[in-house]
Amino acid sequence: MNAQREPFATSEYYRGGGEVRETADGTGIEITASLTATMRVTVTSGVFGPDNPTLLDVYGPRGRCVAVVDAVVDRHYGAALRAYFAHHGIGLTVMVCPATESDKTLRTVERILDFLGVNHCNVARDEPILVVGGGVISDTAGLATALLHRRTPYVMLATSVVAAVDAGPSPRTCVNGDQFKNSIGAYHPPVLTVVDSGLFATLDDRHLRHGMAEIVKMAAVDELRLFELLEEHGERLLATRFGSTGGDAALRKTGDEVLHRSLLSYLRHEGTNAYEIYQDRPHAYGHTWSPGFERRAGLLHGHAVAVDMALSTTLAELVGWLPAADRERIHALNRRLGLAVYDPVLERSDIILAGQEAMRSKRGGRALWAPVPRGRIGAVGYLEDVPAELLAEAVELNRVRAAALPDGGRGTGSRLDPTTGVS
Ligand SMILES: NC(=O)c1ccc[n+]([C@@H]2O[C@H](COP(=O)([O-])OP(=O)(O)OC[C@H]3O[C@@H](n4cnc5c(N)ncnc54)[C@H](O)[C@@H]3O)[C@@H](O)[C@H]2O)c1
Repeated sequence: MNAQREPFATSEYYRGGGEVRETADGTGIEITASLTATMRVTVTSGVFGPDNPTLLDVYGPRGRCVAVVDAVVDRHYGAALRAYFAHHGIGLTVMVCPATESDKTLRTVERILDFLGVNHCNVARDEPILVVGGGVISDTAGLATALLHRRTPYVMLATSVVAAVDAGPSPRTCVNGDQFKNSIGAYHPPVLTVVDSGLFATLDDRHLRHGMAEIVKMAAVDELRLFELLEEHGERLLATRFGSTGGDAALRKTGDEVLHRSLLSYLRHEGTNAYEIYQDRPHAYGHTWSPGFERRAGLLHGHAVAVDMALSTTLAELVGWLPAADRERIHALNRRLGLAVYDPVLERSDIILAGQEAMRSKRGGRALWAPVPRGRIGAVGYLEDVPAELLAEAVELNRVRAAALPDGGRGTGSRLDPTTGVS
């Protein structure tokens, strides 16, 4: 992390270059410019233990750490965080920040910017901010750091499953916009993501469960072995919070392997496409139709992703890309993990088709590029277009399948609080 600084470099984490040349006719100038970001992801345990070097390596040489911490996480781990920095004689300034889904607003970003800015912490532009919490704080505080000095590095200490495998290392920092959830933001990956499944011990069941959807998503389109691990151990990992509240050392090791494989799968594709230059993003599986209905249906993010996965997988079967047995296997895994596989919002074809068109436009307008499992579990294909009749057929098949389930396919604890929108 503390590589030798090049003379005149503005930050140790970013490199750039490019070319400038005059056009052949001498009337114009053409420029190319590139930005290379350095990122690292670490799965560790006992991150606040005095002997754990992960945070010390970053903040020890600087002598101070400015942190933005999710308010709930601060209640559980604030004392340990403060004790860690005090033990190492590093000054720590903390902003405790409410971070529910309804806090994903520009107002929250402004408040964080105010804390980081000249009137409070006066953070320098190469000083990595520490962000601690789940997907909401990584999105909002990440966006604040993207805006501060136009780009300030941050370290993400992921405390939820979603943050550990997806939102944490994600380059997409954001708040919710009118067009879509997460639609206002900037590409700004953390320079370091730290994952410690021991912190899941205090995560509630609902948030643990919806995080599993992001892992199933990666497994189904990218890694069969990960899928098999979930089939074999998923329910026990859920019940023991990845081995942090039960089970044995072997289960904890399996949990870390699941996290590591998920991260590797995610980063193999997203890591080098951090600025979303390409549309071939397998991990957008479950994220083609769900952004258009997640808030409307009042679903927790992972459940909305799971409902979309079920729809996408049925489409893959209908176009002859996936055997029925594999579609059923994905469906069965999500059911066993208590994830939703259906929501009546799918019957609102106006909402679903409008969402599809908005997604097509977001993905460049030329095609829908909907990733679905293709050929087998662990491999991906992209549906370039999905006609309205085909979509309606898939919805109807899933509606009938869900009607036969005791819970109507709604999953366990899948809803946001209807009055507050709080997750
Ligand atoms: N930017 C991206 O690429 C990306 C990817 C996936 C998800 N997301 C976003 O992430 C969010 C969902 O993530 P999430 O599930 O982490 O939500 P979250 O941040 O709301 O965390 C869930 C709840 O758990 C609490 N919490 C977090 N860690 C805890 C811990 N260790 N112990 C006790 N409580 C803890 C939080 O305070 C919150 O109440 C959504 O807003 C989604 O849009 C973003």
